[in-house]
Amino acid sequence: MKRDIKNIALAGEGKKRIEWAEREMPVLRLIKKRFAKEKPLKGIRLSACLHVTTETANLVSTLKAGGADVVVCASNPLSTQDDVAASLVTHNNIPVYAICGENKQTYYKHLQSALAHKPEITMDDGADLVSALHSTHKHLPVFGSTEETTTGVIRLKALAKMGKLRFPVIAVNDAQTKHLFDNRYGTGQSTIDGITRATNILWAGRVVVVAGYGWCGRGIAARARGMSARVIVTEVDPLRALEATMDGFEVMNMIKAAKIGQIFISATGNTSVIRKEHFLLMKDGVIVANAGHFNVELDLGNLRALSKLKKMAKKHVEEYMLKNGRRIFVLGEGRLVNLACAEGHSAMVMDMSFAGQAMATEFLAKNYNTLENKVYPLPEKLDKKIAGLKLASMGISIDALTSEQKKYLNSWESGT
Ligand SMILES: NC(=O)c1ccc[n+]([C@@H]2O[C@H](COP(=O)([O-])OP(=O)(O)OC[C@H]3O[C@@H](n4cnc5c(N)ncnc54)[C@H](O)[C@@H]3O)[C@@H](O)[C@H]2O)c1
Repeated sequence: MKRDIKNIALAGEGKKRIEWAEREMPVLRLIKKRFAKEKPLKGIRLSACLHVTTETANLVSTLKAGGADVVVCASNPLSTQDDVAASLVTHNNIPVYAICGENKQTYYKHLQSALAHKPEITMDDGADLVSALHSTHKHLPVFGSTEETTTGVIRLKALAKMGKLRFPVIAVNDAQTKHLFDNRYGTGQSTIDGITRATNILWAGRVVVVAGYGWCGRGIAARARGMSARVIVTEVDPLRALEATMDGFEVMNMIKAAKIGQIFISATGNTSVIRKEHFLLMKDGVIVANAGHFNVELDLGNLRALSKLKKMAKKHVEEYMLKNGRRIFVLGEGRLVNLACAEGHSAMVMDMSFAGQAMATEFLAKNYNTLENKVYPLPEKLDKKIAGLKLASMGISIDALTSEQKKYLNSWESGT
């Protein structure tokens, strides 16, 4: 079987960890069981560009159970779990193109390998496959695609706005069961985990600056506060800044925060959020990390230019010694710290995101003929179904509207 992975001998360890994650993914397990019976993806060639983690392994084996002919490539050079890649090849017979630490050239070679599969459906985390399908691989006929993250959805909406999107896309990220939970609770917890694993710092009493108070930023700020840190938020959107203020965080601009912060975390989906003028003001020994999708949120090019020395302080931690004598420690090369320095989100939360991916793929396979070349949300019915299944798996029952309540909620009368 074609593949490009680090070491096939790691498969045994990968299998154990994939099974461990599966225990926490009851919704996806139910979907897998149904897919195995109904085969809604029978014969469909599917290329998935995702973080190659234990949770992703459970997703792609679900797609395969549904009849899809799947290949996988990495959506980030540092997020691949090499044992998982080996297990997918060995135990699931799924071609994988992903090696942790691959360079840019290999990363793009792996994308090409995934496209050589001639996919009818693609699955992206950051829109890299779709981007290639609009530049180097325009000739490939594709039914549609699904997208996992905020940054990918932004790129796709920009393509759609220009009238250039070649096929329909389901923005799985925009499902309530995705961003409300994965981006907030998943990124919140796993970002703290990634920074802790890389540095073993104590959070209590630290001054933490979170750039961006979107779904990810809210989660990170809340979790950092939960660790007894003093949390400062920076924003560009007045509504989000106001929300952060009323949630009890200090809000200020980055130029001010740069002077007082001890740990900086960007989660904006934007570029050069922490840059030259900020680095110059930072205290000696600060830690800087990024949780946003691309490694462009920290302007590392300019940080290098400001530095007289750069070295690895320890695994995952690069030390930049500035010409002014101060040191700045950058985690995971400025790539998403929760995946570069730890294992990413817990399976419990990925259960919902990937249930959304599986259902979106089934929806595309059944409906692509009737869809336009637009970015669609996951249908609300499916979103609610995932939430219902998750609640059931947690043993939680909720109330149902009575017929009187339904009538009342659909009426214009006050009822007095
Ligand atoms: N690390 C992970 O596992 C993970 C998980 C989900 C999403 N993401 C990525 O994280 C990023 C953020 O996602 P989100 O869902 O929170 O997006 P979001 O749109 O909900 O929030 C982004 C926030 O950043 C703010 N912002 C933009 N530019 C800024 C700047 N210069 N300074 C301060 N704030 C700024 C925006 O106003 C917005 O409030 C995206 O790149 C997304 O793809 C990462």
